[in-house]
Amino acid sequence: MKSDSSIQVPDELDLNAIPAHVAFIMDGNGRWAKKRLMNRAKGHEQGVQTVEEVVSACRDLGIGVLTLYAFSTENWARPKVEVKALMHLLKRFLRTKTEEIRKKDIRLNIMGQIERLPDDVRKEAEQAMAVTQKNSAMILNLALSYGAREEITRAVQQIAAKIKSGILEPKEITDKTVSDHLYTAGMPDPDLIIRTSAEFRLSNFLMWQAAYSELAFTPTLWPDFTRQEFYQILIDYQQRDRRFGKV
Ligand code: FPP
Repeated sequence: MKSDSSIQVPDELDLNAIPAHVAFIMDGNGRWAKKRLMNRAKGHEQGVQTVEEVVSACRDLGIGVLTLYAFSTENWARPKVEVKALMHLLKRFLRTKTEEIRKKDIRLNIMGQIERLPDDVRKEAEQAMAVTQKNSAMILNLALSYGAREEITRAVQQIAAKIKSGILEPKEITDKTVSDHLYTAGMPDPDLIIRTSAEFRLSNFLMWQAAYSELAFTPTLWPDFTRQEFYQILIDYQQRDRRFGKV
């Protein structure tokens, strides 16, 4: 996995105050390609390089959970050829990077409608999850066919089924019950959500978990996003006063 270890961690970054969970909305691949008169798939291909760099950076910094929004429930409506290109890149990433992920003690977790993925991609994903399931240094969540509304709806269905079968009383439902039925069950909520490419919205990403997340937006297109910029965003994050609704 690409790791530019020649880049020094800046002194201003407090390694004792690293967020537990960082999530990325990786946006701008299409515009990156368009600027270069290339097809959109080239932008996604270049975006995989940034994925590798960000995974390495998070692992190096000791971030416990990294979540990457790789394919949304809405992305199925993109032109067939683009969906196919993205699925191909995902499959290749899983096939060629799982061993390195395993060696780095990273647990790969797919969050989303895994059953909707093409058979070959789903098999690679299941294999990668199985091979890395005992790893504990970092969780890498790949959000695939993921949408927060689908995630919450699914949680409601599961909770309703438990009530129907008598193992849960409606008055026993708490925030934690809902959290425990999301794809991120057992994981901390994201401390920081970063979106690239100058778009300022959540786009159906982690809507329950983002209740108290800090948000960071950058105009940089995802394929141009670097480790240095990530460090700078983390430094800015560490200056913020997180009050969680208190004074
Ligand atoms: C958004 O850019 C990006 C996506 C929909 C896909 C993200 C996928 C990757 C970075 C590559 C595959 C990922 C892994 C984990 C191997 P956009 O296409 O919406 O860009 P635009 O807004 O400029 O058109």
